[in-house]
Amino acid sequence: MVKRLIACAVCVVLALTAVSCTKKADEPTEPKVLLGFSQLGSESAWRIGNTKDIEEQADRYGVSLMLENANQKQENQIDAIRRFIAYKVDVIAFSPIVEEGWDNVLLEAKSAGIPVILVDRDISTQKVDLTTCLIGADFYKEGVMAAEYLIRKADALGLEQVNIVEITGTENSTPMRQRQAGFYDTIASDGRMNILESIDGDFLKSRGAECMRYLLKTYSDTIDVVFSHNDEMTLGALPEIEKAGFVPGKDMIIISIDGGQEAIDVLKEGRINCVVECTPKLGKALMETVFSLKAGESVDAVIHPEEQVFSDEQDLTTLAPRGY
Ligand code: AHR
Repeated sequence: MVKRLIACAVCVVLALTAVSCTKKADEPTEPKVLLGFSQLGSESAWRIGNTKDIEEQADRYGVSLMLENANQKQENQIDAIRRFIAYKVDVIAFSPIVEEGWDNVLLEAKSAGIPVILVDRDISTQKVDLTTCLIGADFYKEGVMAAEYLIRKADALGLEQVNIVEITGTENSTPMRQRQAGFYDTIASDGRMNILESIDGDFLKSRGAECMRYLLKTYSDTIDVVFSHNDEMTLGALPEIEKAGFVPGKDMIIISIDGGQEAIDVLKEGRINCVVECTPKLGKALMETVFSLKAGESVDAVIHPEEQVFSDEQDLTTLAPRGY
């Protein structure tokens, strides 16, 4: 009897130990790295997709994320970076809304010994070593690809003169500057190409509509091409073109950038002619870079994702859902 009781007690102890061991394995482990990320806002489907991707990848990699949304204001981003410094995060990442005006806060991060990663957009500075690297699209190449499509399209249609209106992204932002430079450099040697006007649409749908109303009023049926720096502004401009009695995709060549699902669907309908991809999926590269920096390893100065062009030159029926 005593032997049986002892055996039972041993079993209970073993079972309890097993349970407590299993529990420990299930418990969340201490986060290995604390990352402070300042997102610039929520102006587009691209931006919302980018935030979601960074959150998902932080989760996947076990990175503890302090995420702050600056609602389109540089001063909010500067305040967020200061909070990250005060909180002593391991790494700071941010998507600068514009290129200038970051020196002071980045010098503070540098003095605190916190490495800074630029996500999506670049900064302009005379100082050295304020940031470790840039993870984002090659915006210049996107502008080049947009122009190359236009040149092919003009050839195919046998156009002798091509009047272009450009709706640009936020003034002084990296994608605005570089997409424009890539586009202008590529059309420069083609005598048919003529920019009627370039106007700031701030990457917003409402501004895209406003700009298009003004452009139609000013240039009406002389417009051959609308080159819009993002899908959001393109989607704002299209109904205005239709309201003015023109058929987008036929009366006017429509070129957009981003490649979100809504724009791809409109491309398939024939109301947009070309969409240059700009992927918001930068989270994986960001998390891997965060771990490298935490381990004291060196990282590549610039990491560009692979991007492609979607257009009416292709069969898009089997294109996978875009996810943003
Ligand atoms: O910086 C990337 C750009 O910002 C995307 O093209 C645009 O949609 C976003 O707002």
